Amino acid sequence: MAEKVSYKELGLIDTREMFKRAMDGGYAIPAYNFNNLEQIQAIVTACSETGSPVILQVSKGARSYADETMLRYMALGAVKMARHKGSDIPIALHLDHGDTFELCKACVDSGFSSVMIDGSHHSFEENIALTRKVVEYAHDHDVAVEGELGVLAGIEDEVEAETSTYTKPEEVEEFVQKTGVDSLAISIGTSHGAYKFKITEGEEPPPLRFDILEECERRLPGFPIVLHGASSVLPKYVELINQYGGRMEGAVGVSEEQLRRAAKGAVCKINIDSDGRLAVTASIREYMAKHPEEFDPRKYLGAARTELIKLIKHKNEKVLGSAGRA
Ligand code: G3H
Ligand code: 13P
Ligand code: ZN
Repeated sequence: MAEKVSYKELGLIDTREMFKRAMDGGYAIPAYNFNNLEQIQAIVTACSETGSPVILQVSKGARSYADETMLRYMALGAVKMARHKGSDIPIALHLDHGDTFELCKACVDSGFSSVMIDGSHHSFEENIALTRKVVEYAHDHDVAVEGELGVLAGIEDEVEAETSTYTKPEEVEEFVQKTGVDSLAISIGTSHGAYKFKITEGEEPPPLRFDILEECERRLPGFPIVLHGASSVLPKYVELINQYGGRMEGAVGVSEEQLRRAAKGAVCKINIDSDGRLAVTASIREYMAKHPEEFDPRKYLGAARTELIKLIKHKNEKVLGSAGRA
């Protein structure tokens, strides 16, 4: 186990102040998942250049892929890199879909400034008990906690749900009050991954359940809501992937207009992973197809990083509205 360190020593900040400002300003903080060097470089570069606060988001899978000790120094490196660029954007390090108390505790102890405990697959009572336990430990260390009510379809690390269960607004007040969470992820029709809706060609994806979101807002005034599964699955990347040897039929995501609308209200954090994966995969496929003689990873990973920077700037400026809010 890595030695214990507080996120404060790493120059990270927790998400509570970020959310308060996002709520007042009518925008959402981007939470970008990362697993490797090029992704974290792209996130820091794009957010520094657009002046956006940012949440660096790490799943359980990412943590074992990148190594928990390495991750701590990557986050420290992200802070230093931003400062070196002359940017003082707030940076948080957040555990995505923590599924046990032990995992959340380990992240608090190794420098995360925020953790999610996803008890959404448990009963309401068990979800409350587990979330409460994490909140008690995290708050003792001044770390913020995100909980979840309602189930998103798709894969959340090792947990896979075929169908979604919308959040029941009548449960949110009791959950927040009994657990003490700092933010709440809800299920309003988004899902994880690149295949969010089953629709035929030319058909529009169904709208998100803004009625559920609005009822949650009404019951929890001023309380930060989180949207998972919020990638837009941009057609240009899916087309490039298919053009250059990939096979992604029927990939579709959430429209940017709907995300913008959500960000203007109580949605203070928007999670984006799949869009980054698509941008990286599309650019690597294209680069490799166009440069079959090339074998220097810096070339194709560099191309992917450049595309990821473009994508993140677009999200911050045009979708989340977080640009210029650092
Ligand atoms: O919600 C899931 C995130 O996209 C993380 O995915 O568990 O494959 O790292 P992962
Ligand atoms: P996407 O798969 O839509 O990018 O969602 C990511 C997410 O919710 C991470 O927790
Ligand atoms: Zn998620």
